[in-house]
Amino acid sequence: MSVLICPVCGGMLENTGKSYICGKHHSFDIARSGYVNLLLSKHAGKAVHGDNKLMVQARRDFLDKGYYAPLCEAVCDEALKYTKNGSVVLDAGCGEGYYTSAVRAAFDRSDIAVKMYGVDISKVAVEYAAKREKSVKFAAASVFHLPVASTSCDLLITMFAPYCGEEYARVLKSGGIMIMAIPSENHLWELKQAIYDTPYKNEVKPYELDGFEHIGAQRVSFIMELRDSTDIRSLFSMTPYYYKTGKTEQERLEALPELTTQADFEVLTYRKK
Ligand SMILES: C[S@@+](CC[C@H](N)C(=O)[O-])C[C@H]1O[C@@H](n2cnc3c(N)ncnc32)[C@H](O)[C@@H]1O
Ligand SMILES: [Zn+2]
Repeated sequence: MSVLICPVCGGMLENTGKSYICGKHHSFDIARSGYVNLLLSKHAGKAVHGDNKLMVQARRDFLDKGYYAPLCEAVCDEALKYTKNGSVVLDAGCGEGYYTSAVRAAFDRSDIAVKMYGVDISKVAVEYAAKREKSVKFAAASVFHLPVASTSCDLLITMFAPYCGEEYARVLKSGGIMIMAIPSENHLWELKQAIYDTPYKNEVKPYELDGFEHIGAQRVSFIMELRDSTDIRSLFSMTPYYYKTGKTEQERLEALPELTTQADFEVLTYRKK
């Protein structure tokens, strides 16, 4: 039995190989790539949210070049501290699965047998993720209506995806662990300097989150040498600035042949109260 639940009635879903079926016979086909669409239109919101194909491809190209490898390693190391054989792990807002598959590989290297799931609202993203990583079950769904049984997960990872504390606390077991990463104050500072007339440093918010005890913070800072304008554009399209940038800034971005900039993150760990 998986920890996935029926988005219609909330019953447990059973994987029959070609589909997931609940006790009330609601059935959800597994796509050829391997993911299951558990997104009900009423949960998708008015517009189709989540990353589109271009954004997913840009993220994959950028991440697969290893630019964020130090962050990925820090998240893998943190995840290993809190898992044992039989643990259930969920990547909420998993995107195209870069961190999901890296964490999965870290468990494999350490001989820790886990059951791992990834959820993202973007069907394109979970399709990419499912093609990349066959030993993780991926579902298209919103983190605001996770199709995941209550108190079923030992570890939840969420990387730069929307935060839904109520849902994350609901699916975690008592004492379960949540790991997330946030940009810290100097993140992409040189990129911002190159583009904006008045760049601002990131404001780091207080760590406290309702329903969770904050148990760890690790700063992960490193220098990235972006070797061509494609990589610079890919990185920029992964940031929230992408949506807020005017024509002049866009032109400055396009004109950058290469760029050395800081990556500055914090990996935060929480325990469900
Ligand atoms: C910045 S990306 C991060 C993806 C991945 N975790 C990573 O770090 O590579 C944010 C992701 O959140 C997803 N997303 C946005 N709204 C969502 C929602 N309501 N539920 C689930 N995923 C959502 C997007 O489709 C996108 O894949
Ligand atoms: Zn059902």
